Amino acid sequence: MKFLAWYNTYMKILAIESSCDETACAIVEKSTEDQLVKVVAAETATSLQKHKVTKGIVPEVAAREQLKVILPVIQATMASEDRDQLDAIAVTTGPGLIGSLLVGVETARALAMAWDLPVIPVNHLLAHPYANFVTSDDNRQTPEFPILSWVISGGHTQLYFMPNHDRVIKLGGTLDDAAGECFDKCARVLGFDYPGGPEIEKLAGEYQAEPHQQKLPRPLIHDKALNLSFSGLKTAFARLATEVELDQNPQLRPWLADELQQAIVDVIIAKTKLALQQYPQVKTLMVSGGVAANSHLRKKLSQLVNEQGQNRLKLFISPLSLATDNAVMVGAYAAFHPQLKTEWQQISVKL
Ligand code: KG4
Ligand code: ZN
Repeated sequence: MKFLAWYNTYMKILAIESSCDETACAIVEKSTEDQLVKVVAAETATSLQKHKVTKGIVPEVAAREQLKVILPVIQATMASEDRDQLDAIAVTTGPGLIGSLLVGVETARALAMAWDLPVIPVNHLLAHPYANFVTSDDNRQTPEFPILSWVISGGHTQLYFMPNHDRVIKLGGTLDDAAGECFDKCARVLGFDYPGGPEIEKLAGEYQAEPHQQKLPRPLIHDKALNLSFSGLKTAFARLATEVELDQNPQLRPWLADELQQAIVDVIIAKTKLALQQYPQVKTLMVSGGVAANSHLRKKLSQLVNEQGQNRLKLFISPLSLATDNAVMVGAYAAFHPQLKTEWQQISVKL
């Protein structure tokens, strides 16, 4: 068994992510002094096409697909790597779909046993922000603590305060549906397959009109707590589509998509402003998760940061390639938390 001692100056980690419909593997490396992680190799397979047919993820189908591709994905990631160079295996242990998670966790366990390596169990939600702690040709900037961090995905919409790498305080989040789920369910009303978020964004981009009266609610926007709610918005969207007789008026689709995108983004921006008022010490605003790919949200976040005044706040939005589920973020989280290492017998799925 290789132990990661505190004095270890360099770590190379094999990371596995299988919490939903993506099967991802990555190798990342980091020295103790580094503020960012370097990606050595990364591969991702997705069962998205299968879920388009059912207009949503069927957990059983996702898990079977994970089983089919996980070893080829790991093999492809390791293609030019020597396993003797690895120091640990990181794996997402939850939250997520149990069948999908089990595939990743049991594979990580088997590799750790066979290769005599420690395992670093990683929480998927805590991993998402670490897509912003990765170096690349066009990013050498380091996020500065304290950080205000959104994770906005298909399963979660949560806001955290991070004073440092080892403390994460939940400030609020959705009381019901996630923002991504709201995009996906409303996209169905417009006839789109899963995932609907990117389709809504594309369609909203076709809408060119003067400012008009808002037709959809902004749930909890004036509430002083940092909570959000999207299930009422979903219902209001379906009602609005019926009221305007969408079937007979397909020309209204871009308008409806734009209405929805604005309503969701307005609430996220309002809650961000509120949190910044409550936590004026924040130096970095960070956004991760699939919905972070939305360009209207990205634009509004940049505006908000500019309004705060020069150099008051740094903005880190996950790069598009790392916004949706991936293993790089899992490896990056593990690289900053080597103290979580354990033995292969000790890991288990945590829903
Ligand atoms: O983080 P992620 O890959 O998986 C979860 O952990 O849920 O996020 C997927 C979600 C889906 O709901 C998808 O519709 C949404 O992210 N999404 C978007 C965009 N790209 C992905 N939502 C709005 N605009 C986008 N461009
Ligand atoms: Zn995710």
